[in-house]
Amino acid sequence: MPAQRLDGKETARLIRLELSNRVSALREVRGKAPGLTAVLVGDDPASAIYVRNKEKAAREVGIEGTVHRLPASTSEAELLDVVDRLNADPAVDGILVQLPLPDQIDPNRVIDRVSPSKDVDGFHPENVGLLAIGRPRFASCTPLGVIELLRRQGIETKGKRAVVLGRSNIVGKPMALLLLQKGAVGDATVTVCHSESREIPEIVREADLLIAAVGRPEMVRGNWIKPGAIVVDVGIHRRADGSLCGDVVFDEVAEVASWVTPVPGGVGPMTIAMLLANTVASGELAAGIRP
Ligand code: GUN
Repeated sequence: MPAQRLDGKETARLIRLELSNRVSALREVRGKAPGLTAVLVGDDPASAIYVRNKEKAAREVGIEGTVHRLPASTSEAELLDVVDRLNADPAVDGILVQLPLPDQIDPNRVIDRVSPSKDVDGFHPENVGLLAIGRPRFASCTPLGVIELLRRQGIETKGKRAVVLGRSNIVGKPMALLLLQKGAVGDATVTVCHSESREIPEIVREADLLIAAVGRPEMVRGNWIKPGAIVVDVGIHRRADGSLCGDVVFDEVAEVASWVTPVPGGVGPMTIAMLLANTVASGELAAGIRP
C-alpha cells in the first residue's frame, strides 16, 4: 500500500490558528503583541525570500514581525551592535539573524551574542546545551517541526530505530537530540550518518524512522527503505526544469514507506510555524505566564 502523506502545510495552519489565540491572550496580559525581529545582512535572494515569508507568517498570527536589513558590506562590529540593541529592546521577544552571513562576519560570534532568552532559532550554545541535557528551552525550528508533525499525526518513536542523515548544527544534531529526549515522540535509538559514514544504505535499511537532511537532491532511493518505515524529508532543491524535490526519491520511497513527507508542503511550513511558536513561548516566558 502506498505511504500516507505527512501534511506539514495543514498541520502548520492548525498550529498558526492556536498561536493566534495565545498571542491574543498575551496581548491581554502585557498590553502588547510578542515581537520577532529578523536581521538580514546582504542581498542573497533565497535569504530575502525566507525572511519575507517569516515576517508575513508572524504578522498573520498577530506577532509584531519586523525585518532589520543591513548592507552586504556591514562589519561584524556593526552587526553585533544591532544584536546588542535588540537584546536590550523590551519590544523584541525573538531575534533571528538569517544565515549565511557575508564572509567578513563570523557567524559563531553573532550566534553567541544573541541573548539566549530571545534566541528563537535555538542556535545559542546555552540553548543547545539545555537541549543536550534534556531541559529544552528553544530548539532549532526545523527539527522541532519534524517532532511536532509526528506528534500531531499520533506517530510515536519510542523504542524505534531512527536514522538521521546529516550532522549540521541547524538540523542533524538537534534532530538527534530531540529524538533522544524522553517521551512518546522521543525515546528513539538514534544513529547519525554523515559525509564520512560508510555503508549508509545498509544503515538506512535498519531504520523505522528516517530523517533525511543531507542537502543532496534525491540521494535516498526506494530500495534503501525498510517496508513500513516513516520517512521525513528535510531537503528542498530546485531541479533543472524548475520543479522542486527533496533528499529522497519521493515516488520510489512512497511505494515502500508507511508515511512520507511531501516536498514542498512537508517540513518547510512546520519550520516557520515553530519559529512563531518559539517567539510566542518567549513572550509568555517574559510575561511570567509560562514556567
Ligand atoms: N538559514 C537557513 N536556515 C536557517 C534558520 O533556520 N535560521 C536562520 N537564522 N538562518 C537560516
